[in-house]
Amino acid sequence: MSNSLMIKAPAKINIFLDVKGKRPDGYHELETVMHQIDLVDQVYLEKSTGIEVKTNNPMLPEGEENLAYQAAWLMMNHFNIPGVKIYIDKTIPVGAGLAGGSTDAAAVLRGINQLYNLGINMTTLCQWGAQIGSDVPFCVLGGTALVRGRGEVLTPLPSTMSLHMVLVKPNFELSTRDVYQAFNRDKVEVLPAGERFLDAWYKCDMIGMCKEMVNVLESVSVRQYPEIFYIKQRLRQTGALVALMSGSGPSVFAIFDQQDLARKAVDLMNLSYREVYQVSSYTSGGGY
Ligand code: C5P
Repeated sequence: MSNSLMIKAPAKINIFLDVKGKRPDGYHELETVMHQIDLVDQVYLEKSTGIEVKTNNPMLPEGEENLAYQAAWLMMNHFNIPGVKIYIDKTIPVGAGLAGGSTDAAAVLRGINQLYNLGINMTTLCQWGAQIGSDVPFCVLGGTALVRGRGEVLTPLPSTMSLHMVLVKPNFELSTRDVYQAFNRDKVEVLPAGERFLDAWYKCDMIGMCKEMVNVLESVSVRQYPEIFYIKQRLRQTGALVALMSGSGPSVFAIFDQQDLARKAVDLMNLSYREVYQVSSYTSGGGY
C-alpha cells in the first residue's frame, strides 16, 4: 500500500440559498443547493508521525486553526494512526464563500481514510465533517446536493446540468459569522422558492433555474459592499443568464449559455479584477 496520495478538493458555489431562521444553538437553518466547480485545490498526504500542515499560500494558518489540521486531528483521535503530513496546493481564493478551507478538510478526511485503509463509510465521514464546519459534509459528499439543517442534512441531486460560468472574487474578504449575524429575513426583497428551483433543476430547465436563483445573504453583503451588486450588474451586461453571490460572499459567479461569451466576460472583468476564473461544473463530483 502506498505511503502517500493526492486528493482533489473542488470549490463549491451555492446556486440557491435560503436561510429559514436562527436556531437555539446560534446557527441558522438553511435550504441551499451546493454545486462543485472545477476550481480545485490539490491536497497531498503522506504517512508520518504527528500532524504537519504546509501550503503555498502565505495567508493560510498552518497550525490548529487550519481546518485540514482539525480533520487530521479528528481522524487520529478515533483511530490508532501515527499521523500525517499535509501539503495543500491552494488555488481556491480564501474568505470567498467557496468553501476553500472546508473542501481541504474534507479531502483530508477522505484521504486519511484511503491512506490508512480505515474503511469508514460516507455517512460517518460526513458526520465527522460536520464537527469541523457546516460546509464540510457537502464537500465530503461532492457533486450537487440540497443541503439543509446547518449544513449536515444532505440530499444528493442528479447532475442534470453542466454549467459554464465566470467567477469573480473581489479584492476583500467577508466573515461568514458576521454575515449570518447581520442577517434579517424581513430585509430580503425577493423571497426564494426552493420547490420551483428544484423543479427546474430536475427538469434540466436552465432558463427556469436561472429565474429561481436567489441568495438571501446578498441582503447583508451587498448592503455592506455595493461593489458586489456592481459586479453582478457588469456580468449580466456581458450576456450572462444570471449572476449571484456564492455563500456569504464576496465571490460572484455568472452562468453563460455560450462559452465564447464567458471568455469575453473573463477578459472584461480582468480589466478591473485580478481573481477572475472561467469555471465549469466539477464532473467527477459525487460518489467518491
Ligand atoms: O460551521 P462554520 O464554522 O463554517 O460556520 C461559521 C459561522 O457561520 C458560524 O460560527 C455561524 O456564525 C455561521 N453559520 C450559521 N449558520 C449556518 C452555518 C454557519 O449561523 N448554518
